[in-house]
Amino acid sequence: MINLAILISGRGSNMMAIHQAIQSGKLDAKIQLVLSNTAKAAGLEYTQREGIPTAILEKEANESRASYDDRLTREIEKHPIDYICLAGFMRILSKGFVDYFHHRILNIHPSLLPAFPGLDAQKQALEAEVTTSGCTVHFVDEGCDTGPIIDQRVVPVLPEDDEVSLSERILREEHQLYSFCLQKLAEGKVNIEGNKVILK
Ligand code: GRF
Repeated sequence: MINLAILISGRGSNMMAIHQAIQSGKLDAKIQLVLSNTAKAAGLEYTQREGIPTAILEKEANESRASYDDRLTREIEKHPIDYICLAGFMRILSKGFVDYFHHRILNIHPSLLPAFPGLDAQKQALEAEVTTSGCTVHFVDEGCDTGPIIDQRVVPVLPEDDEVSLSERILREEHQLYSFCLQKLAEGKVNIEGNKVILK
């Protein structure tokens, strides 16, 4: 069993999918904390309804990244956390934070990394006129959507797709992939060698 902190900023559908995978017995994990950097995150309604321990940590005016990340670390360390799951968390994390939680932070990204990192990955895919995209779960390092890739799911890009339809198709795969990767971690089936993940 692994203990999770899930960091969100908005809708929180990946957080909900992880919670539902736990409830249905597909994922041997416990959500110890959902933390949002904004009180406006829609996903907070779900955590309240489901009784999931929740924290809201908003940035103070003129607060430095290091100071925010120190407060974030303290909030996380109030709980017994094995892994931190970024799930639409719209903040760049400092190198200090990433190094401190080395190989314990995961992210989900809506493209087949290293293609289309950063914002609007689905729009980038459409503009590049690729016929295939997908999603990636990876460990977080100090780069933007870099870090060892745990696993990916492939999704077709159809000629009639717009950003909404492609995002929805990718999101359905995201909801499966995050829990799949977490279950591999729970089973001790994830080995990291350099920048490469070996899944057993
Ligand atoms: C997802 O598309 C995820 O890949 C990206 O941000 C979005 C978050 O969606 N990092 P949600 O808040 O989990 O619904």
